[in-house]
Amino acid sequence: MKHYEIKYLLKEDVSALIGTTVCVKGWVRTKRGGKSVAFIALNDGSIIHNIQVVADPVKFEDVLRRITTGACLCVEGRLVESQGSGQAVELQAEKIVLYGEADPETYPLQKKGHSMEFLREIGHLRLRTNTFGAVMRMRHEMAYAIHTFFHERGFFYFHTPLITASDCEGAGEMFHVSTLDPENPPRTPDGKIDWEQDFFGKFTALTVSGQLEGELGATSLGKIYTFGPTFRAENSNTPRHLAEFWMIEPEMAFYDLDSLTALEEEFIKYLVRWALDHCADDLEFLNKMIENSLIERLRSVVDTDFVRLPYTEGIRILEEAVAGGHKFEFPVSWGVDLASEHERYLVEHHFKKPVIMVDYPKEIKAFYMKQNADGRTVQGTDVLFPQIGEIIGGSVREESYDKLLTRINELGIPMKDMWWYLDTRRYGSCPHAGFGLGFERLMLFVTGMANIRDVIPFPRTPHSAEF
Ligand code: 4AD
Ligand code: MG
Repeated sequence: MKHYEIKYLLKEDVSALIGTTVCVKGWVRTKRGGKSVAFIALNDGSIIHNIQVVADPVKFEDVLRRITTGACLCVEGRLVESQGSGQAVELQAEKIVLYGEADPETYPLQKKGHSMEFLREIGHLRLRTNTFGAVMRMRHEMAYAIHTFFHERGFFYFHTPLITASDCEGAGEMFHVSTLDPENPPRTPDGKIDWEQDFFGKFTALTVSGQLEGELGATSLGKIYTFGPTFRAENSNTPRHLAEFWMIEPEMAFYDLDSLTALEEEFIKYLVRWALDHCADDLEFLNKMIENSLIERLRSVVDTDFVRLPYTEGIRILEEAVAGGHKFEFPVSWGVDLASEHERYLVEHHFKKPVIMVDYPKEIKAFYMKQNADGRTVQGTDVLFPQIGEIIGGSVREESYDKLLTRINELGIPMKDMWWYLDTRRYGSCPHAGFGLGFERLMLFVTGMANIRDVIPFPRTPHSAEF
Protein backbone atom coordinates (compact mmCIF):
# COMPACT_ATOMS: atom_id res chain seq x y z
CA MET A 1 0.00 0.00 0.00
CA LYS A 2 1.53 3.31 -1.05
CA HIS A 3 2.14 5.76 1.78
CA TYR A 4 1.38 9.38 0.91
CA GLU A 5 2.39 12.45 2.84
CA ILE A 6 -0.59 14.55 3.83
CA LYS A 7 0.88 17.59 2.09
CA TYR A 8 0.82 15.68 -1.18
CA LEU A 9 -2.80 14.63 -0.81
CA LEU A 10 -3.97 18.13 0.14
CA LYS A 11 -1.84 20.21 -2.23
CA GLU A 12 -1.21 18.21 -5.40
CA ASP A 13 -3.69 17.26 -8.10
CA VAL A 14 -4.85 13.88 -6.80
CA SER A 15 -7.87 13.43 -9.08
CA ALA A 16 -6.37 10.16 -10.37
CA LEU A 17 -6.23 8.81 -6.81
CA ILE A 18 -9.87 9.54 -5.99
CA GLY A 19 -11.65 6.26 -5.31
CA THR A 20 -8.43 4.31 -4.77
CA THR A 21 -7.05 3.07 -1.47
CA VAL A 22 -4.07 4.94 -0.06
CA CYS A 23 -2.15 4.91 3.20
CA VAL A 24 -1.43 7.89 5.48
CA LYS A 25 0.49 7.95 8.74
CA GLY A 26 0.57 10.59 11.41
CA TRP A 27 -0.45 11.84 14.83
CA VAL A 28 -4.00 12.44 15.98
CA ARG A 29 -4.89 16.06 16.54
CA THR A 30 -8.53 15.48 17.43
CA LYS A 31 -11.12 12.75 17.41
CA ARG A 32 -14.84 13.48 17.46
CA GLY A 33 -18.08 12.01 16.31
CA GLY A 34 -20.97 9.97 17.51
CA LYS A 35 -22.89 6.80 16.89
CA SER A 36 -23.00 6.87 13.11
CA VAL A 37 -19.62 8.27 12.17
CA ALA A 38 -16.25 9.17 13.74
CA PHE A 39 -13.82 11.82 12.50
CA ILE A 40 -10.10 11.80 13.16
CA ALA A 41 -7.91 14.79 12.23
CA LEU A 42 -4.48 13.41 11.39
CA ASN A 43 -1.29 15.44 10.96
CA ASP A 44 2.10 14.17 9.80
CA GLY A 45 4.11 17.40 10.03
CA SER A 46 4.51 17.80 6.27
CA ILE A 47 1.98 20.66 6.28
CA ILE A 48 0.01 22.64 8.82
CA HIS A 49 -3.31 21.12 7.69
CA ASN A 50 -4.74 17.82 8.85
CA ILE A 51 -6.35 15.18 6.72
CA GLN A 52 -9.75 14.06 7.88
CA VAL A 53 -10.18 10.33 8.42
CA VAL A 54 -13.78 9.14 8.49
CA ALA A 55 -14.33 5.86 10.35
CA ASP A 56 -17.28 3.59 11.02
CA PRO A 57 -17.66 3.61 14.82
CA VAL A 58 -19.04 0.07 14.89
CA LYS A 59 -16.42 -1.54 12.69
CA PHE A 60 -13.55 0.29 14.44
CA GLU A 61 -15.04 0.33 17.93
CA ASP A 62 -12.07 -1.27 19.70
CA VAL A 63 -9.34 0.76 18.09
CA LEU A 64 -11.31 4.02 18.23
CA ARG A 65 -11.61 3.68 21.98
CA ARG A 66 -7.81 3.66 22.26
CA ILE A 67 -7.31 6.55 19.84
CA THR A 68 -6.84 9.86 21.64
CA THR A 69 -5.09 13.16 20.91
CA GLY A 70 -1.40 12.51 20.29
CA ALA A 71 -1.70 8.85 19.29
CA CYS A 72 0.17 7.70 16.18
CA LEU A 73 -1.72 5.89 13.43
CA CYS A 74 -1.34 4.21 10.10
CA VAL A 75 -4.59 4.43 8.17
CA GLU A 76 -5.46 2.74 4.91
CA GLY A 77 -8.57 3.97 3.25
CA ARG A 78 -10.39 5.16 0.20
CA LEU A 79 -9.55 8.70 -0.85
CA VAL A 80 -12.76 10.58 -1.59
CA GLU A 81 -13.79 14.12 -2.28
CA SER A 82 -14.64 15.71 1.03
CA GLN A 83 -18.26 16.25 1.98
CA GLY A 84 -17.49 18.98 4.45
CA SER A 85 -15.86 22.31 3.75
CA GLY A 86 -12.23 23.07 4.57
CA GLN A 87 -10.49 20.36 2.61
CA ALA A 88 -10.71 18.88 -0.85
CA VAL A 89 -10.25 15.22 0.07
CA GLU A 90 -10.70 12.90 3.02
CA LEU A 91 -10.00 9.27 3.80
CA GLN A 92 -12.67 6.62 4.45
CA ALA A 93 -10.90 4.24 6.78
CA GLU A 94 -10.62 0.59 5.76
CA LYS A 95 -7.86 -0.41 8.14
CA ILE A 96 -6.40 1.41 11.16
CA VAL A 97 -3.14 0.36 12.81
CA LEU A 98 -2.45 2.06 16.11
CA TYR A 99 1.33 2.52 16.21
CA GLY A 100 1.43 4.28 19.55
CA GLU A 101 -1.18 5.28 22.10
CA ALA A 102 -1.01 8.56 24.04
CA ASP A 103 -2.50 8.16 27.51
CA PRO A 104 -4.92 11.10 27.87
CA GLU A 105 -4.37 11.09 31.64
CA THR A 106 -0.74 12.10 31.23
CA TYR A 107 -0.26 13.39 27.65
CA PRO A 108 0.30 17.10 28.28
CA LEU A 109 -0.82 18.49 24.92
CA GLN A 110 -4.54 18.79 24.99
CA LYS A 111 -6.60 20.35 22.26
CA LYS A 112 -5.63 23.98 22.52
CA GLY A 113 -4.70 27.03 24.51
CA HIS A 114 -1.32 26.27 26.07
CA SER A 115 0.90 29.23 26.96
CA MET A 116 4.35 29.53 25.38
CA GLU A 117 5.84 29.31 28.89
CA PHE A 118 4.12 26.00 29.54
CA LEU A 119 5.18 24.68 26.13
CA ARG A 120 8.82 25.51 26.93
CA GLU A 121 8.56 23.18 29.92
CA ILE A 122 7.58 20.38 27.56
CA GLY A 123 10.11 21.28 24.88
CA HIS A 124 10.35 17.64 23.82
CA LEU A 125 6.65 17.59 22.84
CA ARG A 126 5.91 21.19 21.87
CA LEU A 127 7.19 20.46 18.35
CA ARG A 128 3.93 18.55 17.83
CA THR A 129 1.80 21.68 18.16
CA ASN A 130 0.59 23.59 15.12
CA THR A 131 2.57 26.67 16.11
CA PHE A 132 5.90 24.92 16.49
CA GLY A 133 5.29 22.87 13.37
CA ALA A 134 4.79 26.11 11.43
CA VAL A 135 7.87 27.74 12.95
CA MET A 136 10.12 24.73 12.31
CA ARG A 137 8.97 24.31 8.71
CA MET A 138 9.68 27.99 8.16
CA ARG A 139 13.10 27.61 9.80
CA HIS A 140 13.93 25.01 7.21
CA GLU A 141 12.65 27.19 4.38
CA MET A 142 14.70 30.16 5.56
CA ALA A 143 17.88 28.06 5.83
CA TYR A 144 17.30 26.80 2.30
CA ALA A 145 16.67 30.35 1.06
CA ILE A 146 19.92 31.53 2.62
CA HIS A 147 21.98 28.90 0.83
CA THR A 148 20.12 29.60 -2.40
CA PHE A 149 20.68 33.36 -2.15
CA PHE A 150 24.42 33.01 -1.75
CA HIS A 151 24.83 30.16 -4.21
CA GLU A 152 23.03 32.16 -6.91
CA ARG A 153 25.43 35.06 -6.32
CA GLY A 154 28.66 33.10 -6.44
CA PHE A 155 29.42 32.92 -2.72
CA PHE A 156 31.09 29.80 -1.31
CA TYR A 157 29.80 28.10 1.83
CA PHE A 158 32.85 28.17 4.07
CA HIS A 159 33.16 26.19 7.31
CA THR A 160 34.81 27.99 10.17
CA PRO A 161 35.76 26.22 13.41
CA LEU A 162 33.52 25.98 16.43
CA ILE A 163 36.49 25.54 18.75
CA THR A 164 38.76 28.54 18.68
CA ALA A 165 41.28 30.51 20.72
CA SER A 166 40.20 33.96 19.53
CA ASP A 167 37.48 36.20 20.92
CA CYS A 168 36.34 37.89 17.72
CA GLU A 169 33.99 40.37 19.33
CA GLY A 170 36.37 41.04 22.23
CA ALA A 171 33.59 40.86 24.79
CA GLY A 172 35.09 37.99 26.78
CA GLU A 173 31.81 36.08 26.73
CA MET A 174 33.14 32.68 25.73
CA PHE A 175 32.36 29.16 26.88
CA HIS A 176 35.62 27.39 27.71
CA VAL A 177 36.47 24.12 26.00
CA SER A 178 38.77 22.05 28.15
CA THR A 179 39.54 18.50 29.16
CA LEU A 180 41.45 19.53 32.27
CA ASP A 181 40.20 18.19 35.60
CA PRO A 182 38.10 21.10 36.92
CA GLU A 183 38.70 19.93 40.51
CA ASN A 184 42.44 19.92 40.17
CA PRO A 185 43.80 21.67 37.07
CA PRO A 186 47.56 21.81 36.47
CA ARG A 187 49.06 25.14 37.50
CA THR A 188 51.97 27.30 36.39
CA PRO A 189 54.58 28.35 38.99
CA ASP A 190 52.64 31.59 39.59
CA GLY A 191 49.47 29.66 40.41
CA LYS A 192 47.48 30.25 37.20
CA ILE A 193 45.83 27.40 35.31
CA ASP A 194 48.38 25.92 32.92
CA TRP A 195 46.44 25.80 29.66
CA GLU A 196 49.51 24.46 27.85
CA GLN A 197 48.69 21.13 29.41
CA ASP A 198 45.13 21.26 28.10
CA PHE A 199 43.91 19.24 25.10
CA PHE A 200 44.87 21.81 22.46
CA GLY A 201 47.94 23.05 24.30
CA LYS A 202 46.32 26.46 24.75
CA PHE A 203 43.21 28.14 26.10
CA THR A 204 40.26 27.40 23.81
CA ALA A 205 36.56 28.22 23.73
CA LEU A 206 33.43 27.92 21.60
CA THR A 207 33.30 30.50 18.85
CA VAL A 208 31.39 33.77 19.24
CA SER A 209 31.71 34.42 15.49
CA GLY A 210 33.26 32.83 12.43
CA GLN A 211 34.27 36.19 11.02
CA LEU A 212 38.03 36.19 11.56
CA GLU A 213 38.45 32.85 9.80
CA GLY A 214 35.80 34.00 7.31
CA GLU A 215 38.12 36.86 6.37
CA LEU A 216 40.80 34.30 5.50
CA GLY A 217 38.26 32.71 3.17
CA ALA A 218 37.20 35.99 1.56
CA THR A 219 40.77 37.11 0.97
CA SER A 220 41.39 33.96 -1.05
CA LEU A 221 38.04 32.85 -2.50
CA GLY A 222 36.56 36.33 -2.95
CA LYS A 223 33.10 35.87 -1.50
CA ILE A 224 32.23 33.38 1.22
CA TYR A 225 29.54 32.87 3.83
CA THR A 226 29.36 30.84 6.99
CA PHE A 227 26.19 29.44 8.53
CA GLY A 228 26.66 27.72 11.82
CA PRO A 229 26.16 27.61 15.56
CA THR A 230 27.54 30.48 17.61
CA PHE A 231 27.97 30.60 21.37
CA ARG A 232 27.85 33.52 23.76
CA ALA A 233 28.11 33.28 27.51
CA GLU A 234 26.41 36.62 28.04
CA ASN A 235 24.02 36.63 30.94
CA SER A 236 21.21 38.27 28.97
CA ASN A 237 17.79 36.95 29.88
CA THR A 238 15.93 38.81 27.16
CA PRO A 239 13.45 37.67 24.51
CA ARG A 240 16.16 38.32 21.90
CA HIS A 241 19.25 36.55 23.29
CA LEU A 242 20.30 32.92 23.22
CA ALA A 243 23.52 31.39 24.54
CA GLU A 244 23.58 29.15 21.44
CA PHE A 245 22.28 30.65 18.24
CA TRP A 246 22.92 30.32 14.51
CA MET A 247 24.63 33.03 12.56
CA ILE A 248 25.09 33.66 8.86
CA GLU A 249 28.29 35.59 8.12
CA PRO A 250 29.07 36.59 4.54
CA GLU A 251 32.48 38.15 3.93
CA MET A 252 33.39 39.83 0.63
CA ALA A 253 36.65 41.03 -0.82
CA PHE A 254 36.46 44.42 -2.58
CA TYR A 255 33.21 45.53 -0.93
CA ASP A 256 32.92 49.02 0.55
CA LEU A 257 30.29 50.56 2.83
CA ASP A 258 27.81 51.13 -0.01
CA SER A 259 28.07 47.66 -1.51
CA LEU A 260 27.94 46.18 2.00
CA THR A 261 24.72 47.91 3.02
CA ALA A 262 23.23 47.18 -0.41
CA LEU A 263 23.89 43.47 0.12
CA GLU A 264 22.43 43.56 3.64
CA GLU A 265 19.23 45.10 2.31
CA GLU A 266 18.98 42.79 -0.70
CA PHE A 267 19.60 39.73 1.49
CA ILE A 268 16.89 40.45 4.06
CA LYS A 269 14.34 41.41 1.43
CA TYR A 270 15.09 38.20 -0.48
CA LEU A 271 14.50 36.13 2.67
CA VAL A 272 11.27 37.89 3.60
CA ARG A 273 9.99 37.56 0.04
CA TRP A 274 10.93 33.88 0.12
CA ALA A 275 8.85 33.44 3.26
CA LEU A 276 5.85 35.12 1.61
CA ASP A 277 6.25 33.01 -1.55
CA HIS A 278 7.03 29.62 -0.01
CA CYS A 279 5.43 29.54 3.44
CA ALA A 280 1.92 30.81 2.70
CA ASP A 281 0.01 28.19 4.73
CA ASP A 282 2.21 28.49 7.80
CA LEU A 283 2.21 32.29 7.58
CA GLU A 284 -1.57 32.37 7.34
CA PHE A 285 -1.76 30.24 10.47
CA LEU A 286 0.73 32.41 12.38
CA ASN A 287 -0.99 35.56 11.14
CA LYS A 288 -4.25 34.27 12.58
CA MET A 289 -2.97 32.80 15.84
CA ILE A 290 0.17 34.74 16.79
CA GLU A 291 0.32 38.19 15.20
CA ASN A 292 -2.48 39.65 13.13
CA SER A 293 -0.32 42.13 11.24
CA LEU A 294 2.41 39.61 10.38
CA ILE A 295 1.84 39.23 6.64
CA GLU A 296 1.22 42.94 6.21
CA ARG A 297 4.46 43.70 8.07
CA LEU A 298 6.45 41.27 5.90
CA ARG A 299 5.01 42.79 2.73
CA SER A 300 5.86 46.28 3.86
CA VAL A 301 9.55 45.36 4.38
CA VAL A 302 9.82 43.93 0.89
CA ASP A 303 8.41 47.12 -0.62
CA THR A 304 10.34 49.71 1.41
CA ASP A 305 13.74 51.30 0.91
CA PHE A 306 15.77 50.95 4.10
CA VAL A 307 17.04 54.21 5.59
CA ARG A 308 20.83 54.81 5.74
CA LEU A 309 21.44 56.71 8.96
CA PRO A 310 24.80 57.88 10.32
CA TYR A 311 25.05 57.25 14.07
CA THR A 312 25.67 60.95 14.74
CA GLU A 313 22.43 61.84 12.97
CA GLY A 314 20.58 59.12 14.89
CA ILE A 315 21.78 60.56 18.20
CA ARG A 316 20.59 63.99 17.12
CA ILE A 317 17.10 62.61 16.41
CA LEU A 318 17.00 60.85 19.78
CA GLU A 319 18.20 63.96 21.63
CA GLU A 320 15.48 65.97 19.92
CA ALA A 321 12.93 63.39 21.03
CA VAL A 322 14.15 63.72 24.63
CA ALA A 323 14.01 67.54 24.37
CA GLY A 324 10.44 67.16 23.06
CA GLY A 325 9.46 65.21 26.16
CA HIS A 326 10.01 61.57 25.12
CA LYS A 327 11.19 59.44 28.05
CA PHE A 328 13.84 56.75 27.59
CA GLU A 329 15.03 54.48 30.38
CA PHE A 330 18.68 54.90 29.32
CA PRO A 331 20.33 58.28 28.65
CA VAL A 332 21.23 59.36 25.11
CA SER A 333 24.35 61.25 24.11
CA TRP A 334 27.03 60.93 21.44
CA GLY A 335 29.18 57.92 22.27
CA VAL A 336 26.61 55.69 24.00
CA ASP A 337 25.83 52.21 22.75
CA LEU A 338 22.20 52.45 21.70
CA ALA A 339 19.73 50.46 23.80
CA SER A 340 16.98 48.57 22.08
CA GLU A 341 14.43 51.24 23.16
CA HIS A 342 16.49 53.80 21.19
CA GLU A 343 16.76 51.58 18.14
CA ARG A 344 13.06 50.88 18.22
CA TYR A 345 12.21 54.55 18.57
CA LEU A 346 14.11 55.32 15.38
CA VAL A 347 12.64 52.40 13.46
CA GLU A 348 9.07 52.26 14.76
CA HIS A 349 8.30 55.91 15.60
CA HIS A 350 10.59 58.14 13.62
CA PHE A 351 11.24 56.50 10.25
CA LYS A 352 8.62 53.72 10.37
CA LYS A 353 10.87 51.50 8.28
CA PRO A 354 14.07 49.49 8.68
CA VAL A 355 17.17 51.55 9.35
CA ILE A 356 20.78 50.74 8.51
CA MET A 357 22.84 52.73 10.97
CA VAL A 358 26.45 53.43 9.93
CA ASP A 359 29.61 55.15 11.18
CA TYR A 360 29.58 54.34 14.89
CA PRO A 361 31.97 55.70 17.53
CA LYS A 362 35.00 53.41 17.49
CA GLU A 363 34.88 52.91 21.28
CA ILE A 364 31.63 50.95 21.14
CA LYS A 365 32.57 48.70 18.21
CA ALA A 366 35.00 45.82 17.66
CA PHE A 367 38.69 46.25 16.86
CA TYR A 368 38.48 45.11 13.24
CA MET A 369 36.21 47.86 11.87
CA LYS A 370 37.57 50.29 9.30
CA GLN A 371 38.48 53.63 10.82
CA ASN A 372 37.07 56.79 9.25
CA ALA A 373 39.17 59.87 8.51
CA ASP A 374 37.52 61.78 11.39
CA GLY A 375 39.49 59.67 13.87
CA ARG A 376 36.40 59.00 16.00
CA THR A 377 34.09 56.77 13.97
CA VAL A 378 34.34 53.40 12.22
CA GLN A 379 32.49 51.93 9.23
CA GLY A 380 30.27 49.65 11.27
CA THR A 381 26.68 48.92 10.21
CA ASP A 382 23.74 47.66 12.24
CA VAL A 383 20.49 46.83 10.50
CA LEU A 384 17.65 47.80 12.85
CA PHE A 385 14.24 46.22 12.41
CA PRO A 386 10.78 46.90 13.78
CA GLN A 387 9.96 44.72 16.81
CA ILE A 388 13.44 43.16 16.79
CA GLY A 389 15.99 45.96 17.06
CA GLU A 390 19.38 44.81 15.75
CA ILE A 391 19.02 41.98 13.27
CA ILE A 392 22.38 42.37 11.47
CA GLY A 393 25.77 43.64 12.65
CA GLY A 394 28.58 44.17 10.16
CA SER A 395 31.34 46.44 8.95
CA VAL A 396 33.94 47.32 6.42
CA ARG A 397 37.17 45.82 7.80
CA GLU A 398 40.30 47.81 8.57
CA GLU A 399 42.73 46.74 5.87
CA SER A 400 45.71 48.83 6.94
CA TYR A 401 48.19 46.71 8.86
CA ASP A 402 49.47 49.69 10.87
CA LYS A 403 46.06 51.02 11.85
CA LEU A 404 44.81 47.58 12.80
CA LEU A 405 47.89 46.84 14.88
CA THR A 406 47.61 50.18 16.67
CA ARG A 407 43.98 49.43 17.55
CA ILE A 408 44.84 45.91 18.74
CA ASN A 409 47.52 47.35 21.01
CA GLU A 410 45.22 50.11 22.30
CA LEU A 411 42.69 47.48 23.31
CA GLY A 412 45.32 45.19 24.80
CA ILE A 413 44.37 42.21 22.61
CA PRO A 414 47.09 39.55 23.02
CA MET A 415 49.17 39.63 19.83
CA LYS A 416 50.23 36.02 20.06
CA ASP A 417 46.64 35.06 19.29
CA MET A 418 46.27 37.39 16.30
CA TRP A 419 49.37 36.79 14.17
CA TRP A 420 47.54 34.76 11.53
CA TYR A 421 44.76 37.34 11.24
CA LEU A 422 47.28 40.17 10.82
CA ASP A 423 48.96 38.23 8.01
CA THR A 424 45.90 38.99 5.83
CA ARG A 425 46.99 42.65 6.10
CA ARG A 426 50.69 41.91 5.63
CA TYR A 427 50.31 39.94 2.43
CA GLY A 428 48.10 41.23 -0.35
CA SER A 429 45.79 43.18 1.93
CA CYS A 430 42.55 44.22 0.27
CA PRO A 431 39.46 46.27 1.02
CA HIS A 432 36.77 43.93 2.29
CA ALA A 433 33.59 43.85 4.34
CA GLY A 434 31.07 41.49 5.86
CA PHE A 435 28.18 41.11 8.24
CA GLY A 436 26.44 38.69 10.57
CA LEU A 437 22.73 37.95 10.55
CA GLY A 438 21.32 36.30 13.66
CA PHE A 439 19.23 33.45 12.26
CA GLU A 440 16.83 33.38 15.22
CA ARG A 441 16.33 37.16 15.06
CA LEU A 442 15.31 36.67 11.44
CA MET A 443 12.99 33.86 12.52
CA LEU A 444 11.40 36.13 15.13
CA PHE A 445 10.69 38.64 12.42
CA VAL A 446 9.25 36.26 9.82
CA THR A 447 7.11 34.24 12.24
CA GLY A 448 5.84 37.03 14.50
CA MET A 449 6.82 34.97 17.55
CA ALA A 450 7.62 37.14 20.55
CA ASN A 451 10.39 35.17 22.25
CA ILE A 452 13.60 33.87 20.68
CA ARG A 453 13.27 30.69 22.78
CA ASP A 454 10.31 29.76 20.61
CA VAL A 455 11.98 29.92 17.18
CA ILE A 456 14.73 27.35 17.81
CA PRO A 457 13.92 23.69 18.56
CA PHE A 458 16.01 23.46 21.73
CA PRO A 459 16.90 26.84 23.25
CA ARG A 460 19.99 27.36 25.38
CA THR A 461 19.69 30.25 27.84
CA PRO A 462 21.12 30.95 31.31
CA HIS A 463 20.10 28.09 33.65
CA SER A 464 18.34 26.25 30.88
CA ALA A 465 19.74 23.40 28.82
CA GLU A 466 17.01 20.77 29.15
CA PHE A 467 16.16 18.55 26.20
O1 4AD B 1 26.63 42.15 16.05
P1 4AD B 1 27.34 40.84 16.24
O2 4AD B 1 27.96 40.58 17.57
O3 4AD B 1 28.42 40.78 15.08
C1 4AD B 1 29.35 39.82 14.90
O4 4AD B 1 29.46 38.80 15.54
C2 4AD B 1 30.21 40.05 13.68
N1 4AD B 1 31.44 39.24 13.83
C3 4AD B 1 29.44 39.70 12.44
C4 4AD B 1 30.25 39.94 11.18
O5 4AD B 1 30.51 41.08 10.84
N2 4AD B 1 30.63 38.89 10.50
O6 4AD B 1 26.32 39.65 15.93
C5 4AD B 1 25.70 39.59 14.68
C6 4AD B 1 24.22 39.27 14.83
C7 4AD B 1 23.45 40.30 15.64
O7 4AD B 1 23.09 41.39 14.83
C8 4AD B 1 22.25 39.49 16.09
O8 4AD B 1 21.30 39.38 15.04
C9 4AD B 1 22.85 38.12 16.32
O9 4AD B 1 24.05 38.05 15.58
N3 4AD B 1 23.15 37.88 17.73
C10 4AD B 1 22.42 37.10 18.55
N4 4AD B 1 21.31 36.38 18.33
C11 4AD B 1 20.80 35.67 19.36
N5 4AD B 1 21.35 35.63 20.59
C12 4AD B 1 22.47 36.34 20.87
N6 4AD B 1 23.01 36.26 22.09
C13 4AD B 1 23.05 37.11 19.82
N7 4AD B 1 24.14 37.91 19.73
C14 4AD B 1 24.18 38.37 18.46
MG1 MG C 1 26.10 43.79 17.10
